Amino acid sequence: MMIIALGNTKGGVGKSTLTTNLAVSFQQRGKQVIVVEADPTVRTLSTWKQDRTDAGRSPITVMRQAGNLRDDLRDLDSKYDIVLVDLPGKDSREMRTTSTVADLLVIPCQPHQIDIDPTVEMIPLLEEARDYNPDLIVAVVLNRASTHAWSTEEKDARAALGESFEHILPTAIHERNAFSASTGRGLSALESSDKKAQHEIKSFTDDIERLITNG
Ligand SMILES: Nc1ncnc2c1ncn2[C@@H]1O[C@H](COP(=O)(O)OP(=O)(O)OP(=O)(O)O)[C@@H](O)[C@H]1O
Ligand SMILES: [Mg+2]
Repeated sequence: MMIIALGNTKGGVGKSTLTTNLAVSFQQRGKQVIVVEADPTVRTLSTWKQDRTDAGRSPITVMRQAGNLRDDLRDLDSKYDIVLVDLPGKDSREMRTTSTVADLLVIPCQPHQIDIDPTVEMIPLLEEARDYNPDLIVAVVLNRASTHAWSTEEKDARAALGESFEHILPTAIHERNAFSASTGRGLSALESSDKKAQHEIKSFTDDIERLITNG
């Protein structure tokens, strides 16, 4: 019913971490979820899934897929409520073919210049994707934002990214131990004891639901 891809041509921005959290979050909301691990070079999500099974948590289906994903994603889209695609951290065939069929591309970005520059440089690639998929919604989510009250980095990043992107999700995900620790144990931050991390994932999911229902 809905294909949501997480991608950025820059690596290490939090695609896999946010994918696992969204998978659990949508499952908790009663959706049938499948996760596609579209990165041929790493097994972050397959490992997470195995850890999750070992921990006795609600199973989430993860399948590995590489190359041209267009037909596979369309097929999964007809069978599941939510298809989440964790893309490689680079310009790739997986990213380009996924962008031609996805409903939403979520681009995680740390609120630092070193992430903002390559994120903005994705714009021509996204315009090309819209030639094939005019309804593609693109939204940036700030990840690993500073929890220091005095930090202006989030505000500055929103201003810089706002010049190029129509949607920057209102919820920023902050740098929290609960995210790295829970992912490493096959869990979501929703299953951790960190209330702030739990709240961020719920409100991130709300932002996404709002975007895909209102377009
Ligand atoms: N909000 C966060 N708070 C704390 N640590 C985080 C957060 N988001 C991601 N991390 C950590 O940052 C690292 C990179 O995250 P992740 O693997 O999700 O990124 P990625 O974009 O999937 O990377 P790659 O391009 O290599 O696939 C991991 O060690 C992860 O635990
Ligand atoms: Mg990853």
